[in-house]
Amino acid sequence: MSFGYFDDAQKVYVITDPRTPATWINYIGTIGFGGFVDQTGGALICKGDPALNRIIKYIPQLPNGDFKGETLYIRIKVPSGYKVFSPFYVPTLDNYDRYECRVGLGYMKILSEFYGIRTEAVIFVPMNQSCEIRDICITNLTKEPIELDVIPVVEYTHFDALKQLTNADWVPQTMQSKIVEEDAGYKILTQYAFMNKESRINYFTSNYPISSFESDRKIFLGNMGYGTWKCPKSLYEDELSNYEARRGDNIGALMHHIGILESGEHKEIITQLGQAASLREAMQDIQRYRDPAIVNKAFIGLKEFWENYLSKIVVDTPDAAMNTMLNMHNPRQCYITKNWSRYLSQYQLGFGARGIGFRDSAQDVMGILGHAPEEGRELIEMLLHVQNRNGSAMHQFNPVTMEASAGDSREMEDRPKYYSDDHLWIVLAVCAYIKETGNTAFLSKQIPFYEKDKEGKPLEWGSVLEHLKRGIEFTKEDCGVHGLPLLGFADWNDTVNLPYGAESVFTANLYGTALKEMVELLRYIRDEALAQAYEECYVSMKKNVNQYCWDGKWYIRYFDHHGQKIGSNENEKGKIYANAQSWSVISGFAPYDRAAVALQSVNRILNTRNGIKLSDPGYDGYDSEKGGITTYPPGAKENGGIFLHSNPWVMMAETMLGNGDQAFAYYNQINPVLKNDVVESYECEPYCYPQNILGDEHPQFGLARNSWLSGTASWVYQASVKYILGVRPNYEGLMIDPCIPSQWKGFRMRKHFRNAVFEIDVKNPEGICKGIKQVLLDGKEIEGQIIPVLEDGKVHNVQVIMG
Ligand code: GLC
Repeated sequence: MSFGYFDDAQKVYVITDPRTPATWINYIGTIGFGGFVDQTGGALICKGDPALNRIIKYIPQLPNGDFKGETLYIRIKVPSGYKVFSPFYVPTLDNYDRYECRVGLGYMKILSEFYGIRTEAVIFVPMNQSCEIRDICITNLTKEPIELDVIPVVEYTHFDALKQLTNADWVPQTMQSKIVEEDAGYKILTQYAFMNKESRINYFTSNYPISSFESDRKIFLGNMGYGTWKCPKSLYEDELSNYEARRGDNIGALMHHIGILESGEHKEIITQLGQAASLREAMQDIQRYRDPAIVNKAFIGLKEFWENYLSKIVVDTPDAAMNTMLNMHNPRQCYITKNWSRYLSQYQLGFGARGIGFRDSAQDVMGILGHAPEEGRELIEMLLHVQNRNGSAMHQFNPVTMEASAGDSREMEDRPKYYSDDHLWIVLAVCAYIKETGNTAFLSKQIPFYEKDKEGKPLEWGSVLEHLKRGIEFTKEDCGVHGLPLLGFADWNDTVNLPYGAESVFTANLYGTALKEMVELLRYIRDEALAQAYEECYVSMKKNVNQYCWDGKWYIRYFDHHGQKIGSNENEKGKIYANAQSWSVISGFAPYDRAAVALQSVNRILNTRNGIKLSDPGYDGYDSEKGGITTYPPGAKENGGIFLHSNPWVMMAETMLGNGDQAFAYYNQINPVLKNDVVESYECEPYCYPQNILGDEHPQFGLARNSWLSGTASWVYQASVKYILGVRPNYEGLMIDPCIPSQWKGFRMRKHFRNAVFEIDVKNPEGICKGIKQVLLDGKEIEGQIIPVLEDGKVHNVQVIMG
């Protein structure tokens, strides 16, 4: 069964059946203003902070066919009254003749045909604006004239998204709506919480005169509140009630009498849903976006933004599904995760518990550095603001208030209040940014540490370089009995929370990787003394990892607080963890023979046809000492599930050993494009990576969940561009070091790098995975495999012969 197809030329995925196995969404706008739109036009929209300034109520847990957030009704005048339907399928669920939802770059475009009426709706947020536009065009496809009305509807939430669900007295007492009539005859239906009426106004309006409106859900649905969204009683009356709600469940519904549409005739209506400090402030924009030409221009602006973003790296490989991902969907998802972190999705509901995760964003940002490095730097700076003076980092923060917290560790009194990995990721991110841009001046930028005095002034500032050093120092000083970093509340694996004294092999490797990066950076900026000191730290941690953590066929994952191994063949469950293997290769700690054996063990024990499991076998029962991991049944999430974020790390490790065939096989088995044909059991969007797929211990092996906001996006993108295709910025230039499937005859990449463009053409005449025989830059052979920094604004030709 198929639910859609990729149209790469148009840069869209086209959903052809609205009844997708799970709700499929797309993001519009940014966290500044925006949210997501689903395949049936339902939407969740916020401004600034999904927890404290949410506009639209969208409850993902409701059945798929239920109204969620926004919809559009059309009604046709018939002799007996009205035929009412939604051209978005939900919530009226009428039979359609055609349904296409184009999942585009920052927009959704729904085209449907019901009862001879074609509706085309383009849904997007203009760049840097605080309003959602729905540009709706309705055409009469029949031979007869049709009289119809168009009624767009939104349902508001209280701005405090959690209160909406927890306080059913205060919330309805404070919600209000008011109609405002403009001179030109247009009406604007405004909505606000009483306390915000002078400071924060939601508005809903269109570019077409309305004859009536509704702001109260109970009246709209009718039957004394027992009406349904599928069949709202008020839509069978000629007009809506014009009721200005002073409390209750606020909605916005606008009645547009289109009148008679002749055969073939069409009409366009543009709706706007926005928020401003006052209506006066928004008026100019409201009036501008009534003009179809301006809306069209805004849409083109959005398109230009994305085209420019995507143009920075374009590939042409022999694998069509890889091209589809790398030229659009993967870098798009990287940008979305950069923007939204784990804040707001169908799975992470944005009620305020999380905000931006330090480790998450420090990894996400690496996925966009090749496309939008300066936006990346801004996010890096933001993260550095919540690093503590002792070098550890606050786990989460609210990007609006910059208030940070220690994350879930707050929930367990007796456990450490920091995570052992957070602050180390930012070392990787800063180094990646400098390698991409050459901007070493960034290292001197002064940024405060998180701690503040009573007046809220930072207690200490430090350069970016100082922040990185503090991070390294923190881990150096925070080691346990085997000389490995203490786990803290957790490391990357959030769900293994052991009592104080436990040590993390993952963090040891991440620390090693960060040290390696620091040594390279320090040598580049000529701080040899510190480079040497860090090299010693590296050597000593490498020694500890190899002395205490090798289990015979793989590396163990933790020592618990009693010094017992976790992730060892001696354990009954949780015998092997993928990250301990991939990262011991990435860090360079594993000597070649151990690296090879460890990766073979991953392949033998953890690999499945749907991806590599995080660990095996899953724990089969709750164990309060281990914590979160044992709350999941075997095969789910971190407990033996296929946690996709970890898969690209194995791909990278394989390329480091030269195994291009294996790396690519791992790439392929999780490529969502290739799930399009098995989507009935996979269920999630085939155009972005999910966070997890159920493992083979679970009866629903292969079922994906938690799509979109996952570190998988950034890491698969890095693994494929920088390691499989092997085009990797470094301080001296652009390293060309592919590790590809031996069957490939070559590939091409166009990459912007430090104000020059490189057209790279790699040929693989001998059918190998790795190795470079010759590199020609603009026809001249260069020594080694690093293209120097040229910065001349020109396009250069790079010919690479493998061998
Ligand atoms: C989730 C969290 C991430 C964590 C991962 C593994 O994806 O957002 O921070 O590393 O789970 O537990």
